[in-house]
Amino acid sequence: MKNELIDKLNSGSAVIGIIGLGYVGLPLAIRFAEVGYKVIGFDIDASKKAHIESGKTYIKHIPDAAIQQAVANGFEATTDFSRAATADALILCVPTPLDNHREPDLTFIINTIETLMPQLRKGQVVSLESTTYPGTTEEELKPRIESTGLIVGKDVYLVYSPEREDPGNLDFTTSTIPKICGGVTEECLDVGLVLYGRIIDQVVPVSSIKTAEMTKLLENIHRAVNIGLVNEMKVVADKMDIDIFEVIDAAATKPFGFVPYYPGPGLGGHCIPIDPFYLTWKAREYGINTRFIELAGEVNSNMPEYVVNKISDGLNSQKKSINGSRILVLGIAYKKNVDDVRESPSIEIMSQLQEQGAKVAYSDPHVPKFPGMRRYSFDLQSEELTADNLSSYDCVVIGTNHDAFDYELIKHNAQLIVDTRGVYRDPDKKIIKA
Ligand SMILES: NC(=O)c1ccc[n+]([C@@H]2O[C@H](COP(=O)([O-])OP(=O)(O)OC[C@H]3O[C@@H](n4cnc5c(N)ncnc54)[C@H](O)[C@@H]3O)[C@@H](O)[C@H]2O)c1
Repeated sequence: MKNELIDKLNSGSAVIGIIGLGYVGLPLAIRFAEVGYKVIGFDIDASKKAHIESGKTYIKHIPDAAIQQAVANGFEATTDFSRAATADALILCVPTPLDNHREPDLTFIINTIETLMPQLRKGQVVSLESTTYPGTTEEELKPRIESTGLIVGKDVYLVYSPEREDPGNLDFTTSTIPKICGGVTEECLDVGLVLYGRIIDQVVPVSSIKTAEMTKLLENIHRAVNIGLVNEMKVVADKMDIDIFEVIDAAATKPFGFVPYYPGPGLGGHCIPIDPFYLTWKAREYGINTRFIELAGEVNSNMPEYVVNKISDGLNSQKKSINGSRILVLGIAYKKNVDDVRESPSIEIMSQLQEQGAKVAYSDPHVPKFPGMRRYSFDLQSEELTADNLSSYDCVVIGTNHDAFDYELIKHNAQLIVDTRGVYRDPDKKIIKA
């Protein structure tokens, strides 16, 4: 069974099923199609299928042409999950958010595997790519797969291989980012290494599924904790009248033992604010409190309020209050040069300002219209940045430092600037670092 599947994967005749065609699933589908596999993308969201069929992208950094080329190579999208039986590989790229109590919400993974269960057959490999706590694959997927009568490691192969996308980073592509892979059994790992070895330059095997799951969490927790540290340092430096960005740049000249992380208005994106709490939750089962993670979360989630207080100070120095002021937030994507607004601290800042009576507006060349979100609702379109428009606001807040902004134009025309990203280094009376 295993050799047959490996032969199919090696010969390129295997059919690859990708479940969840979002930021992770779509580039992966395109990469499998690029090396010549027949790829079927499954998504419950019919608009993904419609976009793919018409060759139109729905993720900014993925061009139409990449989708059109993949479709020309045989990539198709469907909402018909019965077709999963025809796939030799089923790769799960569905969301893993937190619920309202900030605990892991595995419903997407569980719904997906339960939908796939009737379609599972001997000779398939199932891979989970969603970020999650150690134990998920073996505790949630394996028993469900085996409840169909198939045995993992003998009939069906089960692996975990976390995604390492960095949207907007032009230095890497899906194929050049090394990929971790762990298997439930050695046979599973053997299959996983062939599956990914065909599309990724370097696949890194680890000794267990849990190791693979934990590796992804370490990577993201490392970022969350270090960003928390520099955010705390920023507050201290500010009180001491020291520019934290100059400090970080100076420290980064040390050729060993220091990695620069930069402060900002808080954490954003689908990963760094969320994933660490998957480990926190699981660690409790072992009687362990993950104090670093909690502390970093506390520091980082206080940042939007810190920025709002800085805005208040700036307005106050001009004898104004937040209440009644017109405030323009520049950049509502969570990081520069992308269009992803998930968990974006700029939006939390807008919300806090509005609660305090400000009239808020935003400008983001990557987000022309304020998108529908679960927790926030603003009926706004991106403002055009002109000299007149900029000067009409009481305060302009740099929330995200997109390259597309004209920072000279902003500096010359804004009445007051609150800079959360260290864009302006030289001291200036009307610029407040936050
Ligand atoms: N975005 C990133 O940069 C990134 C990087 C590394 C890891 N991850 C992880 O990868 C996973 C997916 O993240 P994403 O950013 O691609 O999410 P996303 O929201 O962009 O895409 C998920 C897709 O899954 C679909 N979906 C939801 N339930 C489904 C179901 N039952 N069956 C089929 N499709 C379903 C959604 O419609 C959506 O198209 C998450 O666990 C995330 O933490 C994301």
